[in-house]
Amino acid sequence: MAKSTGKKNSGSAIKTKPLWAGRLAQTPEADAFAFQASISVDKRLVFDDITASRAHALMLGRQGIIPKNAAGQIAKELDVIAAEIKAGKLAIDSNAEDIHSFLESVLTRRLGGTGKMVHAGRSRNDQVAAAFRLYLKRAVPQIQSGLAALLNVLLDTAQAHITSIMPGYTHLQRAQCVTLGHHLCAWCAALERDYSRFTDALRRLDECPLGSGALAGSSLPLDRKAAALTLGFNRLCINSMDAVADRDFALELSGACAITMVHLSRFCEDVMLWASEEFKFIELSESWSTGSSIMPQKKNPDFAELIRGKTGRAAGNLVTLITLLKGLPYAYNKDLQEDKEALFDSIDTLCLCLRMFAGMIKEANFNLKRMKAACAGGFLEATDAAEYLVRKGLPFRDAHEAAALLVRDCIEAGHKHISGLSLDEMKKRSRLFEEDIFKVITPAASVRMRSLPGGPAPKEVRRQINYLKKKIMNKGSGIDVR
Ligand code: ARG
Repeated sequence: MAKSTGKKNSGSAIKTKPLWAGRLAQTPEADAFAFQASISVDKRLVFDDITASRAHALMLGRQGIIPKNAAGQIAKELDVIAAEIKAGKLAIDSNAEDIHSFLESVLTRRLGGTGKMVHAGRSRNDQVAAAFRLYLKRAVPQIQSGLAALLNVLLDTAQAHITSIMPGYTHLQRAQCVTLGHHLCAWCAALERDYSRFTDALRRLDECPLGSGALAGSSLPLDRKAAALTLGFNRLCINSMDAVADRDFALELSGACAITMVHLSRFCEDVMLWASEEFKFIELSESWSTGSSIMPQKKNPDFAELIRGKTGRAAGNLVTLITLLKGLPYAYNKDLQEDKEALFDSIDTLCLCLRMFAGMIKEANFNLKRMKAACAGGFLEATDAAEYLVRKGLPFRDAHEAAALLVRDCIEAGHKHISGLSLDEMKKRSRLFEEDIFKVITPAASVRMRSLPGGPAPKEVRRQINYLKKKIMNKGSGIDVR
């Protein structure tokens, strides 16, 4: 039986009295109550809800809405509650409806009538929006520090491999020579954008919804600005209905998480290819590998595979949130309660994967000989030969054709590299070829000569590394295009 007042129903009774029990003669049965409860997920907001409640109560006191000493008592008790929860002396009641109900019930139990004053001028709708935003204001910098840590590992590795030649791929076919440093910097460029995407999202979510009530504000003389200021918010939410209905901030963050996970997933794909016997560019450390229960010889890149796999969750969470929001009329709807589980999962997954990926790369060994050897045999120097002819004045299309014919000549003659041809043989395809062509078509020269901003030349990659390092320390100036 579950009842607040009046009629019985047949199921088992709920264990806590909901905040809204006054209106309804009957309350849901235990399993139905549990269905609509959110404590298992929003208990994570406990400290943020305490922080927001504290600021709200003190503001109520300053505004004369509740007695000043009552406000002081509430604030003090909230501090005690926070300390007790941290020390494991007070357990969050898993039968409570949500974290807001739980905290109000503890306050009321301890302070009696004074505890009941805390909810003046607020609703759980603006309360949850405030606590969620406060939580995210703490969580985003944590994601960013995970990103910065990974960037540091990658940039240090890149620095060590500024001259380590490897093939670059398009269509997964060997294309042109690059360096391992250049390849790792490509990953870092993507991660740096991810980093700044979180900064952007953080800036937009930094608005205080408190004082918006259920949807329509309050007739009580709340001081919204003071509460927001105490809580360290940048701005007030501009409209009370939007303040309780908006979850773009969750959607945007979940997008930022999904994009970062997609990046990690792509890097993992590189790592898995490189770790295969066919490539053998990378040797993952044994502590970042797993074995097989049946095949004794196996050493599997499970960590990379799992990061790729978990990217599905991050993408799924994004779809969950976007689908959740698309049909919701303004303002608050209970559907919004589903927002936190998805975003928390994306944030947890991302933070974990950032750590795992950094650890895996930090301890990996690169097989520089194999990488260099893979630059031979695929005619990666063909574009360099064509650009050589352009420098000698030939229109690019003609240069492309001459270099393509050189490649065909080599295949026919069984040469693995254009330098297998003699100068005379080359001259048959273009009279512009001179002895100096042989200096241009080595992997090292090929990389060194592509020194434009963004290119693989060692000195340019060094600049990219410095730029990216400064950028994560917020000192970056970017490529000056003026
Ligand atoms: N647990 C709710 C949520 O996460 C809190 C707000 C409840 N508001 C309400 N009107 N039932 O959205």
